[in-house]
Amino acid sequence: MSDKTVQITDSATNKTATFPIVTGTLGPPAIDIGKLNKETGYFTFDPGFAATAAARSAITFIDGDAGVLLYRGYPIDQLAKQSNFLEVSYLLLNGQLPDKAKFSAFEDEITHHTMMHEALKNFLHGFHHDAHPMAMLCGSIASLSAFYHDTLDMDDPEQRRLAAIRLIAKMPTIAAAAYRYSIGWPIRYPRNNLDYVTRFLHMMFEVPSEPLQLSPIVAKALDLLFILHADHEQNASTSTVRLVGSTGANPYACVAAGIAALWGPAHGGANEAVLKMLAQIGDAKNVGKAVEKAKDKNSGFRLMGFGHRVYKNFDPRATIIRDMCHKLLADLNVNDPLLDVAMALEEVALKDSYFVERKLYPNVDFYSGLIYKALKIPTEMFTVMFAIARTSGWVAHWLEQHLDPETRIGRPRQIYTGSVKRDYVGFDKR
Ligand code: SDX
Repeated sequence: MSDKTVQITDSATNKTATFPIVTGTLGPPAIDIGKLNKETGYFTFDPGFAATAAARSAITFIDGDAGVLLYRGYPIDQLAKQSNFLEVSYLLLNGQLPDKAKFSAFEDEITHHTMMHEALKNFLHGFHHDAHPMAMLCGSIASLSAFYHDTLDMDDPEQRRLAAIRLIAKMPTIAAAAYRYSIGWPIRYPRNNLDYVTRFLHMMFEVPSEPLQLSPIVAKALDLLFILHADHEQNASTSTVRLVGSTGANPYACVAAGIAALWGPAHGGANEAVLKMLAQIGDAKNVGKAVEKAKDKNSGFRLMGFGHRVYKNFDPRATIIRDMCHKLLADLNVNDPLLDVAMALEEVALKDSYFVERKLYPNVDFYSGLIYKALKIPTEMFTVMFAIARTSGWVAHWLEQHLDPETRIGRPRQIYTGSVKRDYVGFDKR
């Protein structure tokens, strides 16, 4: 808290109201406008909540101007170099890095919750085989509340904790099952002798007829991508999870809502959209035209993978992913012409005044699709990858919100622009 205040004077009435300033450990202060309407009769107007702090949170800190991203205070580049996704998940949920015993217990609990209920296979088989995996994931996760009645009492911290564990543990199993169903392959069961990411890759790609030959480079690269995508403060899908959570809804419904929000091309769906855009551009010689089209408001075309609501500098995750992309494609001896297109597009856009003035830099989604492609992850599974990783962030925020005394049901207001009161008239008078 701060003892500083701001005063707002209404020029219509010359009345002045005083409001407290709220500060955190890092980042910009905020004006606590909880009493604004009562004191002044005004609401605030902030479409997209670009200037609104929705909650206090200790999980992730972003400094958009400096390109800083901290998970529980740890810089993302240090976690990317030294940690692993499951340890980062523990950190996001619990606030501290685990000692060996705590990590081993956490990993063991996750490992023993990876199976999905057999009846869920019938649920998946209810989809048409060409259903988008995000549709199958969203529907399947929402259905988990129908299977796990022992984690639906939101007032019981142990039930909340177990639900979080189940979601982190089962997301890869259900995601892989949805993919296998969409290509007509039999579902592979999770193997407890494998680590979290290797287990997922086996469920995705192992066929009954032969053992999977998996390069450790692939598992390491995917683990790193999961770390980079694990959380990102109050982004659209996390805010969705929090809004649904504020009504007391069960965690499976909350995370299913987060998956739905993530699917949009302006958010997590951008990684899939980037690859389609690069394929449409086709060749480095066409990037100039694409940049010009993206600058034309009437074109309805945007450079997918560029721009960010918060980062007005390079997305620190994009920097890590860009370097990793070049290294991985070299390590795997993959020569992807789309990488040349991406690099040419980045070079042209970063020099163009339209992008420079608007501080539009490549974001986390710009290069990640190229890596998923090199890892032989199918394009329609790119946003599913994002959802698997972001589940740890979503459940960390959901758990945090249940412990926050300031949590209230989310209910924004509006500026009404419709018709004034009028009386109903019958057909004969219309
Ligand atoms: C993610 O919030 C998060 O943290 C999200 C995320 C996470 O980890 O959870 O980081 C993940 O969602 C990354 C973003 C992925 N989306 C894309 O790559 C889609 C393309 N980018 C945009 O649509 C856009 O940049 C957003 C949605 C990311 C940000 O939108 P804002 O902050 O609302 O910005 P805006 O739409 O108001 O744009 C500001 C200006 C506009 O021009 P002017 O009206 O000022 O003239 O920049 C232009 C926009 O037209 N602009 C673009 C552009 N992005 C913004 N112009 C061309 N290409 C683009 N990509």
